[in-house]
Amino acid sequence: MEQIKLPQASVLTSPNPVSIVCTQKPDGTTNLATVSWWTYLSFNPGMIAYAMAKTSYSGEMVRQNKEVILSIPGAEIADAVMGCGTSTGRNTDKVSKFGIEMQNIPGSEIQIPLHSRVAIQCSLKEFIETGDHYLYICDVDQVYGNKDERAVFSWDGYAKIAPANQG
Ligand SMILES: Cc1cc2nc3c(=O)[nH]c(=O)nc-3n(C[C@H](O)[C@H](O)[C@H](O)COP(=O)(O)O)c2cc1C
Repeated sequence: MEQIKLPQASVLTSPNPVSIVCTQKPDGTTNLATVSWWTYLSFNPGMIAYAMAKTSYSGEMVRQNKEVILSIPGAEIADAVMGCGTSTGRNTDKVSKFGIEMQNIPGSEIQIPLHSRVAIQCSLKEFIETGDHYLYICDVDQVYGNKDERAVFSWDGYAKIAPANQG
């Protein structure tokens, strides 16, 4: 084997998972950001975690509001998911810019994409500094699923978003 850097490893491990971190902005609307670095932590109690760059607007919102919904987006919105990963909610209304249809889930003012295979509604438990990212550790409040939506993954590192059979 040859010695490589960690970013190169993340290319070799692709397809990597893709989620959308949904948070509430001060005006009440929802911000969407694409995140590959998420994981289940515990089934009982339900816990998940995800890592986001310290500079992300989503991070600022979840640290303020302590609420987040992690959506696994459906294949219909693959292009929009790339858009949500290459622009910031600090200066962009991503929902309208990328024409993403949204839906409500019970008990939350945060919306999620209509085309979601899974939605994990969470409360922020704590966040930990991890190098250039923060790791957000969350308690799971509710989980929703729709098996008719096809999950997408990121290919060639983070260059392309497509279902597993199209990568
Ligand atoms: C496929 C893909 C995966 C990504 N995964 C992550 C990730 O795991 N963590 C992260 O901090 N940023 C990730 N990003 C980049 C963020 O989505 C990007 O920085 C975005 O602008 C953050 O938006 P925000 O400032 O509105 O929060 C990813 C981008 C793409 C396209």
